[in-house]
Amino acid sequence: MACFVGPGAQAVGRTGGRYHPRAGPVGSGVRRSEETAVTITETRTTATAETASPLTRQDLVGTVFGAAAFQALNAGCELGLFALLNGEPGLTEEEIASRLDLRPRPTRILLLATTALRLTSLDGGRYRNAELIDSLFADGTWEIITDMVAFEAHIVYEAQADFTASLRADTNVGLRRFAGEGEDLYHRLAARPDLERLFYRCMRSWSRLSNPILVDKADLTGVRRVLDVGGGDGVNAIALARANPNVEFTVLDLPGAGAIAERKIAEAGLSDRITVAEGDIFDDDYPEGYDCVLFANQLVIWSAEQNLRLLRKAHRALADGGRVLVFNAMSDATKDGPLYAALDNVYFATLPAAQSTLYDWGQYEQWLTEAGFSRVERRPGETWTPHGVISGVK
Ligand SMILES: C[S@@+](CC[C@H](N)C(=O)[O-])C[C@H]1O[C@@H](n2cnc3c(N)ncnc32)[C@H](O)[C@@H]1O
Repeated sequence: MACFVGPGAQAVGRTGGRYHPRAGPVGSGVRRSEETAVTITETRTTATAETASPLTRQDLVGTVFGAAAFQALNAGCELGLFALLNGEPGLTEEEIASRLDLRPRPTRILLLATTALRLTSLDGGRYRNAELIDSLFADGTWEIITDMVAFEAHIVYEAQADFTASLRADTNVGLRRFAGEGEDLYHRLAARPDLERLFYRCMRSWSRLSNPILVDKADLTGVRRVLDVGGGDGVNAIALARANPNVEFTVLDLPGAGAIAERKIAEAGLSDRITVAEGDIFDDDYPEGYDCVLFANQLVIWSAEQNLRLLRKAHRALADGGRVLVFNAMSDATKDGPLYAALDNVYFATLPAAQSTLYDWGQYEQWLTEAGFSRVERRPGETWTPHGVISGVK
């Protein structure tokens, strides 16, 4: 296959302020991704429902020991407890100890914690997974959840201890837990290939969890070419390409992500419709020739001023009638939730970049208008994660 050149992108050096289209797909054995599409069926819990009843002592226990609760969940994943009980429900404590190769004391400690947390249940001396966990195994979502847990354990957990310091300093103090000179997490990961692989694997899972909303709510009618700005490993371009067979995509990202994206796109058998370009979304000009610019999980990383800059760049790159799509988790304008957004925001405040945060819907709408877009519309994803799409037209 010939080298990819994203529409309008020119292969000149970074110093020339243009993106580097990556070479053709990696490897010859193109195969379909075996990942299953995730269908989110649970409806959204509103912030009002979460904050309506007064705090109880029991709620306080859950919060004081929140770190311990997470460790119980993580240990259950890492030791294979949930996978074991999914395959063999109704095992006794002794059988679980033997299968997990744990001594009796740690087995009791683990099962006490997972059962008190209702991750497992105990009936007549036999343990089972919570019904929810088994249903997540059944529909393919559990592999996503275990990646999210791994992300929290290996990327977020240690840095999150710097939350207070980050609030005091109004910057991402937690970044100090990652060696290197890069100004944000993404640039520091480049020095740690092992962590970088884990990061992009887990980020893919975060995105797979929510991108059915993107696929459902992003209106690509009449669109021919989408520029996926900071598109990571191509997870969203792949999902959108499958749902929109006449649309081409270019994933723009840093070199580490670009290499992973090429592999994932080839595995999905979509190398003919999705290209990869490497570059810096702030420093380099956007390639031309696109009638849609997508910012997926991107405008949560940067400050208001940086987001406005990115949206203005998108506006300049688009022809009249072109559209912009912003997709990510949003907080509620009522400032009381949802819980998912509030707790995810602790990560954003502590680690990715100096001014990362989840914004509310109205903030994005204001920036889109300021950047020159009209017909600004919000499309929330009526499910349990607080994701949604905001679109605008040039
Ligand atoms: C939160 S991830 C989202 C990835 C993808 N859009 C998704 O939804 O899965 C942010 C992405 O922005 C990329 N990124 C961060 N800073 C960048 C920069 N200055 N230039 C290009 N890409 C950047 C990161 O490498 C990462 O892939």
